[in-house]
Amino acid sequence: MNYKHIPVMLNEALNYLDPQPGQYFIDCTLGGAGYTVAIAERIGPKGKIIAIDLDKMAIENAKFQISNFKFQNIILANENFKNTTKITKKYFHKKKVDGIVFDLGLSSAQLADRSRGFSFQLDTPLNMSFGCQMSDFGCRTTEDIVNNWKQEKLEKIIREYGEERFAKRIARKIVECRELKSIKTTGRLVEIINQAVPDFYKRKKINCATKTFQALRIASNNELENLKKTLPQAVDLLAQGGKIVVVSYHSLEDRIAKNFFRQESRGCLCPPGYPVCQCEHKQQLKILTRGIVAAGKEEAAKNPRSRSAKLRAAEKI
Ligand SMILES: C[S@@+](CC[C@H](N)C(=O)[O-])C[C@H]1O[C@@H](n2cnc3c(N)ncnc32)[C@H](O)[C@@H]1O
Repeated sequence: MNYKHIPVMLNEALNYLDPQPGQYFIDCTLGGAGYTVAIAERIGPKGKIIAIDLDKMAIENAKFQISNFKFQNIILANENFKNTTKITKKYFHKKKVDGIVFDLGLSSAQLADRSRGFSFQLDTPLNMSFGCQMSDFGCRTTEDIVNNWKQEKLEKIIREYGEERFAKRIARKIVECRELKSIKTTGRLVEIINQAVPDFYKRKKINCATKTFQALRIASNNELENLKKTLPQAVDLLAQGGKIVVVSYHSLEDRIAKNFFRQESRGCLCPPGYPVCQCEHKQQLKILTRGIVAAGKEEAAKNPRSRSAKLRAAEKI
C-alpha cells in the first residue's frame, strides 16, 4: 500500500504525552499511523492504544503496517472521533487512559488521493469527506454542499471557515453556475472561484482557491463541531496525570483547543462580581504549553506541512 504521510512534530507530541510501559492511550487521528506506532512501541506489550480514523484507507494502511509489529497492542477503529467515549468503553471498558492525542485535519496521502477531491491542484470528483460518503459518520460530500446549500449558507462557511474576504462573490458565482449545470469536479470549482475573484487576487502567492477549499473541507467533515464535542469527552476519559495533546493546522481549530484548555484550567467560571459561585465548575486541567509549540526550523524546512502546525498540551489534575 502506498500511503505517504510524514508525522508532524512527533517528538514534541511524544515529549508531552510521555508514554510509559503498560499505559493506555487513544490516538483520535490515526492517519499514517506515525503517532500510533511510536506510542505503541513505548507502551509495550502490556499497554494498549486505540487508534481511530474515519478513513478506511488509513485503517487498511495501518493493518498492513502493523501486521508484523512486535506487540499486539494496537486496536484500530474505523469511526468518527466524536464517538470517543463509546469507542473507549467498548475496548477499555471503564479504564481511564494515560494520554489522548489529536493530530487534526487531513493526511498527505488523502491530499494526494485522486478519488478524494481535497486538492485544488488536481481535477477530481468533489468529495473531500474523510469518511468517503459515509453519511452515518456525519460526513457529506462537497459536491452535495456546493450544489444544494443556499447562497447565504455557502457565503457564511466560506467567510467563517475559510476566512475568505471574497466569500460573497464566490458564493454568488457558485449559485449562478450550478443553476446552469451541477458542479461535480474540483477543476470546475477552481474555474468558478477564478471567475468570481478580482484579478489582483489571482496574482497572490497563495492560490485564490485555497481558502474556499479549506472552508468546504471543514464543512464537509463537520470538523469544528467534532472537535468541540470530543475535547470534553477526552478530559473525562483521562486518568489523573494523563495528558492531552492537540496539533492543529488552522487558527479556527487552534482557537477551540486554546479556549477549551483555558476554560478547563480555571475553577469558577462565574462572571466577575458574583459574591458566591453559581457554576460549580472545577478545574480539570493544567496547561503544559505556554502559548503554542511550533515545528523547529529543521522540520519546517524538510516538511512544509509542519509550518502551519500548532501544538498545545495539558495534563489532567
Ligand atoms: C493529519 S492526519 C494524522 C496523521 C497521524 N498523526 C500520523 O502520524 O500519521 C489526520 C487524520 O485524522 C483523520 N480524521 C479527521 N477527522 C476525524 C474524525 N472526526 N474522526 C476520525 N478521524 C478523523 C483523517 O481522516 C486523517 O487520516
